[in-house]
Amino acid sequence: MGNTVRKSEALQKCILNASTYPREHQQLKKLREATFQKYGSAEWGVPLDEGLFLSILLKAMDAKRTLEIGVFTGYSLLTTALALPHTGQIIAIDPSREAYEVGQPFIREAGVEQKINFIQSDAFVALEEMLTKGEEFDFVFVNADKTKYKKYHEQLIEIVKLGGIISYQNTLCSSSVASEEEVTDEAIVDFNNSLASDERIEISQLPIGDGLTLCMRMI
Ligand SMILES: C[S@@+](CC[C@H](N)C(=O)[O-])C[C@H]1O[C@@H](n2cnc3c(N)ncnc32)[C@H](O)[C@@H]1O
Repeated sequence: MGNTVRKSEALQKCILNASTYPREHQQLKKLREATFQKYGSAEWGVPLDEGLFLSILLKAMDAKRTLEIGVFTGYSLLTTALALPHTGQIIAIDPSREAYEVGQPFIREAGVEQKINFIQSDAFVALEEMLTKGEEFDFVFVNADKTKYKKYHEQLIEIVKLGGIISYQNTLCSSSVASEEEVTDEAIVDFNNSLASDERIEISQLPIGDGLTLCMRMI
C-alpha cells in the first residue's frame, strides 16, 4: 500500500514536471505566486493540471459564454478567459472583491479583462436575477460554498443551455467521500447522490484536483 502511494506520488510529480508546469501561461504562474504570497497558500485555486483540462474542454465545446461561481484570486477565471475566443464572455460571481483584485493585474496583463464581468454578490441572489432575465450559458464552473451546491444546481439547470455543461469542483473532498473511516462532508455526499439520480443530466466524475463532476444538460 505504502509503495503504491509512493509510486503514484512520484508519477504525479513526473507528470506535473514533464507536461503540466511547462504549459502554464506566464500570467497564471504570476497569479498563482501572488496568491501564495498574499494568502500563504494557493490551495483554493484550481490545480494547474485541472486548469489545462478545463482549457481543452472549453475549446472542444467551442464555449463562448460562461459563468463562474467562486472567483477568489481568479486562477480558474483567467484559465477560462484565456481559453475563450476573443468575443467570449464570462460572468464571475463572488461576494468578496478583495481577492479578485489580487489577481486582476495578471488578468489585465494577459489581455483578457474585457471578457470578464465580475459581479460582487452571493451566487444565489445573482442567479435568481439572471433567471428572470432569461440568461443562458454554454459552461458553468462552480467552486464555492459546497453546502449550497444542491441549491445552485436547481438554478443552474435552467441557466445552462441544452447540451451545455455545469461543472462542480471538490466533489471528492480529498477522497474522503469514498472512505468508511474518515469524517467526510455530508453535504457533498448528499449532492453526489442527488446528481446520480438526476435524469436531466449526463454525468462524469473525474478524479482530477479534488474531484470535478461534469454535468451535461440533456433535457
Ligand atoms: C475555493 S475559492 C474559489 C477558487 C477559484 N475558483 C480559483 O481558481 O482561484 C471559493 C470562493 O467562493 C466564494 N464564495 C463563498 N460563498 C459564496 C457564495 N455564496 N456565492 C459566490 N461565491 C462564494 C469565496 O468568497 C471564495 O472566493
